Amino acid sequence: MTSVGIDAIEIHTGKLKLDLAETFAPAMDDAPEKYTKGLGLHASSFPDTYEDIVTMGANAAHRLMERKELEPDDIGRIDVATESAFDHSKPVSTYIAGCLEQVFEGDFHHANKGERKFACVAGTQSIDDAYNWIRAGRNRGRAAIVVATDTALYARDDPGESTQGAGAVAMLIDEDPDLVELSKAQGFGSADETDFLKPQQQFPSVDGKRSVNVYLARMREAMIDYQRVGGDIHPDDFRLGPFHTPFPGMVRKAAVLAYRHIIRDTDIEDALADDIGRQPRPEGFDDEEQYREALSEYTDALKETDRYQEWYDRTINPTLSISRQVGNWYTGSVHVARVSGLKALAEAGEDAVGDQLLVGSYGSGAQAEIHVETIQDGWEAELDALNIDEQLDSRYDLDFEEYEDVHDAHNYDEETAVEEFTAPDSEFVFDGWGRMGERQ
Ligand code: CAA
Repeated sequence: MTSVGIDAIEIHTGKLKLDLAETFAPAMDDAPEKYTKGLGLHASSFPDTYEDIVTMGANAAHRLMERKELEPDDIGRIDVATESAFDHSKPVSTYIAGCLEQVFEGDFHHANKGERKFACVAGTQSIDDAYNWIRAGRNRGRAAIVVATDTALYARDDPGESTQGAGAVAMLIDEDPDLVELSKAQGFGSADETDFLKPQQQFPSVDGKRSVNVYLARMREAMIDYQRVGGDIHPDDFRLGPFHTPFPGMVRKAAVLAYRHIIRDTDIEDALADDIGRQPRPEGFDDEEQYREALSEYTDALKETDRYQEWYDRTINPTLSISRQVGNWYTGSVHVARVSGLKALAEAGEDAVGDQLLVGSYGSGAQAEIHVETIQDGWEAELDALNIDEQLDSRYDLDFEEYEDVHDAHNYDEETAVEEFTAPDSEFVFDGWGRMGERQ
């Protein structure tokens, strides 16, 4: 076996859009810049009334199979990663397989189906499962489909409301992949945390400020753990750094931390002493608080250096462009970041075969995973095949009252009847419980 990785990706965005600067900020009596500059978000995607996690996932997987000319017999495994599941018994993958069987020859009776849950990191965990299944030789020549699908909704007036989003990412995991090969080495940072929970409730209970710090702490641990197995790395080893992106401002904080760790013990750290004008890494503190203050000052100074800014603009910024327009897709978010970054390289006509991605996945509760991916020969054709720009442009722009109605409707409030805003176009639609995923 030569290599295993992601062969193809398809994205399906919810068909409605909430403009944060034009529509949300005035209704909240906030400055638009809080969202566009502070959080780095311009808009959120929402599902139309006939869309849900099943239809969005099935529509993405359908396009993936059709484009790659696959039949159910080619697929040995369907895993869905979601934190918006509505069924405590049957995995969402069975619903999605049922949709796909309506349009493809044959069935998925031979395929192993499951559902992965660990907040937003579950999409990457499902890829890891598929990778291990193929590497173990249990796949009988078949590929795996991983679908990361979520409606990331918060309660009205929760601070997280501005970071909502909805969409699905379908990925084909196979031998000799066209898009990226996955590294064997992984780093983990995992701890029992309670900053973001959904115990028997639709909307999360979130301690937003703490969740930011937990993200950074677990990511830092994962980075250190990766370096234990992956060996020394250098910032210039990486062409892109797709990170879990609940909002781009979060990645701004995570990226400098990742950079700070990567540059430890490299020539860059010494070179930075001149740029920053002081000892680069604080050392020799007995007092924890003093040390933290010094580290924070150092990190702030590091962020302002030309060397860091150039790295950020080249490696991180391109991964954020789709997220700015769609918000948080939970399990799909880091996979959207990968697509964003690769799309920017393809649009710039860059030669990226053999270049590496430093992928940082994260899920509340909490776990971070760092791994590396290597861009493969077929990457440009895969990126060309995406229609995400058309999907984003054709979203219906909600006014605030419409947004409020849609939010209530997706709270499974049977009393709230909301007419659809867009028309389905040869796709799976949600048409009431028990009639899930009919194609219209
Ligand atoms: N102009 C420019 N910037 C402004 C501004 C203005 N007029 N007003 C505010 N800002 C800046 C703030 O300074 C702040 O930036 P910094 O963090 O860099 O200081 C930023 O805008 C946000 O402002 P606030 O901190 O005041 O915003 P908030 O408290 O209302 O909400 C949040 C922020 C707590 C993160 C909230 O969005 C939230 O709860 N989100 C959901 C939880 C989340 O996404 N956590 C991320 C880590 S957990 C995770 O990643 C898993 C997951 O997917 C949920």
